[in-house]
Amino acid sequence: MATTCTFPLFLSLISTFLILSSSSSEADILLTFKASIKDSKNSLSSWSNSSLTHFCEWTGITCTTTTPLSVTSLNLQSLNLSGEIPSSICELPNLSQLNLAENLFNQPIPLHLSQCTSLETLNLSNNLIWGTVLNQISQFGSLKVLDLSKNHLEGNIPQGIGSLSNLQVLNLGSNLLSGSVPSIFGNLTELAVLDLSQNSNLVSEIPTDIGKLVKLEKLFLQGSGFHGELPESLVGLQSLTVLDLSQNNLTGRVPQTLCSSLQNLVSFDVSENRLSGPFPNGICTGKGLINLSLHTNVFNGSVPNSISECLKLERFEVQNNLFSGDFPVGLWSLPKIKLLRAENNRFSGEIPDSVSMAAQLEQVQIDNNSFSSKIPQGLGLVKSLYRFSASLNGLYGELPPNFCDSPVMSIVNLSRNSLSGRIPEVKKCRKLVSLSLAGNSLNGNIPSSLGELPVLTYLDLSDNKLTGPIPQALQNLKLALFNVSSNQLSGRVPYSLISGLPASFLQGNPDLCGPGLINPCSDDQPKHRSFDLTILTCALISIAFAVGTFIVAGGFIAYHRYRKQRTQVGIWRSVFFYPLRVTEHDLVMGMDEKSAAGSAGVFGRVYIVSLPSGELVAVKKLVNFGVQSSKTLKAEIKTLAKIRHKNVVKVLGFCHSDDSIFLIYEFLQKGSLGDLISRPDFNLQWNVRLKIAIGVAQGLGYLHKDYVPHLLHRNVKSKNILLDADFQPKLTDFALDRIVGEAAFQSTMASESALSCYNAPEYKYSKKATEQMDVYSFGVVLLELVTGRQAEPSESLDIVKWVRRKVNITKGAVQVIDPKITNSSQQEVLGALEIALHCTSVMPEKRPPMSEVVRSLQSLDSRTDSAVIDFSTFEEHSASV
Ligand SMILES: *[C@@H]1O[C@H](CO)[C@@H](O)[C@H](O)[C@H]1NC(C)=O
Ligand SMILES: *[C@@H]1O[C@H](CO)[C@@H](O)[C@H](O)[C@H]1NC(C)=O
Ligand SMILES: *[C@@H]1O[C@H](CO)[C@@H](O)[C@H](O)[C@H]1NC(C)=O
Ligand SMILES: *[C@@H]1O[C@H](CO)[C@@H](O)[C@H](O)[C@H]1NC(C)=O
Ligand SMILES: *[C@@H]1O[C@H](CO)[C@@H](O)[C@H](O)[C@H]1NC(C)=O
Ligand SMILES: *[C@@H]1O[C@H](CO)[C@@H](O)[C@H](O)[C@H]1NC(C)=O
Ligand SMILES: *[C@@H]1O[C@H](CO)[C@@H](O)[C@H](O)[C@H]1NC(C)=O
Ligand SMILES: *[C@@H]1O[C@H](CO)[C@@H](O)[C@H](O)[C@H]1NC(C)=O
Ligand SMILES: *[C@@H]1O[C@H](CO)[C@@H](O)[C@H](O)[C@H]1NC(C)=O
Ligand SMILES: *[C@@H]1O[C@H](CO)[C@@H](O)[C@H](O)[C@H]1NC(C)=O
Repeated sequence: MATTCTFPLFLSLISTFLILSSSSSEADILLTFKASIKDSKNSLSSWSNSSLTHFCEWTGITCTTTTPLSVTSLNLQSLNLSGEIPSSICELPNLSQLNLAENLFNQPIPLHLSQCTSLETLNLSNNLIWGTVLNQISQFGSLKVLDLSKNHLEGNIPQGIGSLSNLQVLNLGSNLLSGSVPSIFGNLTELAVLDLSQNSNLVSEIPTDIGKLVKLEKLFLQGSGFHGELPESLVGLQSLTVLDLSQNNLTGRVPQTLCSSLQNLVSFDVSENRLSGPFPNGICTGKGLINLSLHTNVFNGSVPNSISECLKLERFEVQNNLFSGDFPVGLWSLPKIKLLRAENNRFSGEIPDSVSMAAQLEQVQIDNNSFSSKIPQGLGLVKSLYRFSASLNGLYGELPPNFCDSPVMSIVNLSRNSLSGRIPEVKKCRKLVSLSLAGNSLNGNIPSSLGELPVLTYLDLSDNKLTGPIPQALQNLKLALFNVSSNQLSGRVPYSLISGLPASFLQGNPDLCGPGLINPCSDDQPKHRSFDLTILTCALISIAFAVGTFIVAGGFIAYHRYRKQRTQVGIWRSVFFYPLRVTEHDLVMGMDEKSAAGSAGVFGRVYIVSLPSGELVAVKKLVNFGVQSSKTLKAEIKTLAKIRHKNVVKVLGFCHSDDSIFLIYEFLQKGSLGDLISRPDFNLQWNVRLKIAIGVAQGLGYLHKDYVPHLLHRNVKSKNILLDADFQPKLTDFALDRIVGEAAFQSTMASESALSCYNAPEYKYSKKATEQMDVYSFGVVLLELVTGRQAEPSESLDIVKWVRRKVNITKGAVQVIDPKITNSSQQEVLGALEIALHCTSVMPEKRPPMSEVVRSLQSLDSRTDSAVIDFSTFEEHSASV
């Protein structure tokens, strides 16, 4: 028993002794290192003599796994360290990795680190290292990884690098290197990664001896001023998986055997050069591939070499060059291919039906070439395709009915081709955002099924031979662009398409009719008149109120005017739900031009009235349409006044006469969120914006579900969100339908804000107001908070269209974020954007209830929880409305 207990104890004593004796000097070396650099954020606080932790547990340190413990790796990236990197660090005998990337070291390359005998990896990427790369760099003979990228190195690349024959990774990218790249590659036979990209001052041909890098897997030379022809020797890079030569000034042809030699290639990018000639027909001619695909199984190993060569290729980018001749047809059916970009060349050739075998294909851009082909049925069978852009070619024949059957298809651009026949019904394209078929010879009707595509936002059918009416169903869409100019369409243009879009997009269709067009529709008259009459009545009433002049416009108005003059001096009935010491007379007297706050809202003006007690209240003046009896009115306002929630403005009381209702609300100093956002200096911190969003969501959730009777707001917009001194938001102008009556509410809203982007798309058609409509409007407010933009800027696109355009088309959710929000909040903001996109789903049933919105927003709040947003889900969500 005694021995089994003491033996391990003895061992551990010995090892403790060993640690102390053999490595105390390493701790000192580290402390000396710490002492000679600047650690402004005190990131190395664990590095301390007094610390009880062993130095192997200090920040960034890795030690040998066996005793004696000794430092092997120092990983101090992204700690804002600065000062001078001391050579004393080389006294650590076993130091093999030194990573000081993403710090603020501001000095020439620390050549003295070549004294570190065991050093294999030196990463100084993304610092402020300056000066030239001296020939003495050759002293780093033992280095395997040298990363000096993203610094300010200048001058020529020295010959000395050529003797670093152990190098596996050499990264000099994103510096200011200049001149010509010397022949240095003969001895770098171990090199697997070479990055000289983004040195725009280089003026160099690609050195021929680069072909000797037989182990090279990744070659990055993009954006670096390389000119001249591609050396034939590139065919020697047999291990290459990634080749990026884009954005240079390369000319001439691609070596004949290049593709056939680079059998492991995954990504091939020579875009944005001046390469020309036909593309080599080595592997990707595809004739063999087609034969094979039809008769045998490509993947079962019995594949001839000439075909297997390309099978790993995922990305092929040759756009913006001068290539001509047939496009390598085999590329279309490669099993792994995801991206094909060849736009702006002069390629000819066909799109083969075997494209159906490209089961991973996501994106095709071949615009502005000379392809001459039918669009094959096979294209519709590729389930991963989300973009097919082939404008400005010679594509002909009919659009196959399945052309957008891919469940993720978002962008189709076939404009300026020679397509004919009808546009097929397109019910399956649930994610189609943009469809451009302009400049073809399509005929027949515009299929009304287009109106059922939930996210279709850009529709360009101009310059075709389309006939028949514009389908009413298109009004369902939230179109940011709708162009049907220069066709042979006829009949009445649906109202929202006339009022929401530029007239020029309807031009060149002499038989179209409607208000604002050259032809008014012949059956227009009756409907039109009654509509005008409503407007006229409303207008007259408002004029009567505003100007106060007596206009003989029918007994109805005269009667009200008469009543008004009388009531102003006395016949007011008031109810206060709060001890307000004020008479109606005080109120009426306090309401003049001076006290009017902001412009008149949809339902009337708000006045800030100072009560005799000195208290300020906000008074909203509504037209009393007289549909409710005094008793009902009182009951309804009482319902609103009983609401007590921190995010709903308190109704303090009301007075009414026969033609006006004054609603008295608590006054909030900061004004409305809408006013705030419209200011050019709008600059709220993200956490404040999130707090506002959560508050508004809670207020709405309360109205919808917790308060009895359940209420709908029906006019959520940033102008109706007031802010108190702490930026706590409060909803105002809620449930006015209950006060003015449903009919008056609807007609007022319809005349004033039918086209407001706060209104859900179903608003125009649905008689019944729903919670989902409030959720939609809330989503628009949330978009305003995320983007910092007003929902309805007078000049440009409304916010919903603007955001959808950005998020869907460029996949750039990040771009819509208000640049004034600090980057550190980006994850949260993207989370909020995702919620806003859900709320503004075109289909009401897809919108979450407010309670769920509250929870999602709260989970974003970094103070409670750190939310992890998966960027890749963005398209998914935004498109799955
Ligand atoms: C750490 O402590 C030892 C002994 O206590 C001392 O000799 C040494 O100088 C100290 N090192 C530093 C960097 O303070
Ligand atoms: C690092 O320092 C820079 C400049 O001194 C500063 O702007 C930045 O916020 C610092 N980064 C961190 C993470 O502290
Ligand atoms: C650490 O360095 C010492 C001295 O150079 C050497 O004897 C020892 O083998 C090295 N240990 C390891 C694990 O590399
Ligand atoms: C150097 O460090 C940076 C920053 O962590 C990293 O992105 C880069 O991949 C590293 N370089 C090498 C060659 O590992
Ligand atoms: C390759 O190494 C040999 C011997 O070390 C040397 O003479 C020659 O100059 C090196 N070649 C290059 C291109 O650096
Ligand atoms: C490309 O080469 C042409 C002709 O040699 C030259 O005029 C042009 O400036 C170069 N462009 C760049 C970006 O280097
Ligand atoms: C493809 O098949 C056809 C007919 O079976 C044959 O004539 C042609 O030579 C084949 N092409 C290749 C590259 O095998
Ligand atoms: C490979 O494909 C051929 C032709 O279809 C077939 O005869 C053979 O059985 C397949 N081999 C394997 C291992 O699947
Ligand atoms: C089409 O490509 C040619 C070069 O091949 C280019 O000059 C032209 O500007 C391109 N047209 C468009 C509309 O991009
Ligand atoms: C479709 O292609 C045409 C011609 O290349 C281009 O002008 C237009 O902007 C494209 N449309 C979309 C939505 O990308």
